[in-house]
Amino acid sequence: MTSYLLRGVSVLGAEPTDLLIRDGVIAAGPATDADVIDAAGLVALPGLVDLHTHLREPGREDAETVETGSRAAALGGYTAVFAMANTSPVADTAGVVEQVWRLGREAGLVDVQPIGAVTVGLAGKQLAELGAMATSAAGVRIFSDDGHCVADPRLMRRALEYVKAFDGIIAQHAEEPRLTEGAQMHEGEVSTRLGLTGWPAVAEEAIIARDVLLAEHVGSRLHICHVSTAGSVEVLRQAKARGVRVTAEVTPHHLLLTDELAASYDPVYKVNPPLRTAKDVQALRDALVEGVIDIVATDHAPHAVEDKECEWAYARPGMVGLETALPVVLSVLGQRWDLIAERMSRTPARIAGLTGHGTDLAVGDPANLTLVDPSARRVVDPSELASRSRNTPYAGTTLPGRIVATFLRGEPTVLDGKAVK
Ligand code: DOR
Ligand code: ZN
Repeated sequence: MTSYLLRGVSVLGAEPTDLLIRDGVIAAGPATDADVIDAAGLVALPGLVDLHTHLREPGREDAETVETGSRAAALGGYTAVFAMANTSPVADTAGVVEQVWRLGREAGLVDVQPIGAVTVGLAGKQLAELGAMATSAAGVRIFSDDGHCVADPRLMRRALEYVKAFDGIIAQHAEEPRLTEGAQMHEGEVSTRLGLTGWPAVAEEAIIARDVLLAEHVGSRLHICHVSTAGSVEVLRQAKARGVRVTAEVTPHHLLLTDELAASYDPVYKVNPPLRTAKDVQALRDALVEGVIDIVATDHAPHAVEDKECEWAYARPGMVGLETALPVVLSVLGQRWDLIAERMSRTPARIAGLTGHGTDLAVGDPANLTLVDPSARRVVDPSELASRSRNTPYAGTTLPGRIVATFLRGEPTVLDGKAVK
């Protein structure tokens, strides 16, 4: 196994130093046999961890596969991703989660951890085999019907009770379905102007309010996917102050983009939950800095051309995000490396109970890390994405930062900004 010496690297923005990677871990001592990488001006971060990725395999391999999504993740600086369950067939059995886990191992570019469905077929009627998925080789700890809300409060309560036994988590896509029937975009001034059916903020806030009460009652762990409104932040703030075991994520796109973009009628901006107002964006940024929102998660949602390049009303919601997440967060937070490491690596790893990721990059830690050039700026070109899909809302946008290299347990997955395999 090749050793690497990262010469003159800045670990989390600290003074430049030499970092040695040997036998898969951060090492100390002489580096006579190591390949030297000139890392002057580069910042080392613990490998990013994404708790919310859609890899589309099995079922929609034309949009993404475990392998192409893993490559996109590595190029984005990730060393672990959690694969959402809304595949076809749905990841609601031990067999399907083991298949996804095995494909991830075979690709070998990031650690792929499957998320299991909460209900059979995401239909919201009957609990899936949560225990069988938990004890499978995939060792599932997080369950979600993402794409759909677990709307039935009795089923949600039972799911929370069930996972409590093994300290599992229910990750909720908070969307009251009756309040969002036919919704096309955020309900507000812009939707009124455009004459599109609105998705009101309260449809998200009402479910979060209900579920923090259920989690509190049961004493279980709840995670809220893609928080998108200022009101949701307030509900979470109160719940956390009371000691409810709730964590929350925000996507890069909800930290940067607003509902005004829907006026273009370009379906690349259609996403669920929808882009909100500038006031919501500011509240989400503040909550992320403060820690009321714990982490950034991409909701990387690749879609085939025919599902995206059509009329707004018929387009599928979702945006690819793995390859632009860190640049977007850098543009929002600036070079606050410790905060970025906390929100994009350490806290997601801690929430998921994922060991070996999100470390301090101390001697002996597994060498899961990424090297960023913060002075570089790049124009996003969809044709250059490693993802099999092209639905990025940032085409033509200049974003700061370039991921130069990524290491998974000491093996490079990305070098010189290019995937190694
Ligand atoms: O925009 C979205 N796309 N939101 C979701 O909840 C699901 C996702 C998808 O699977 O495409
Ligand atoms: Zn979702």
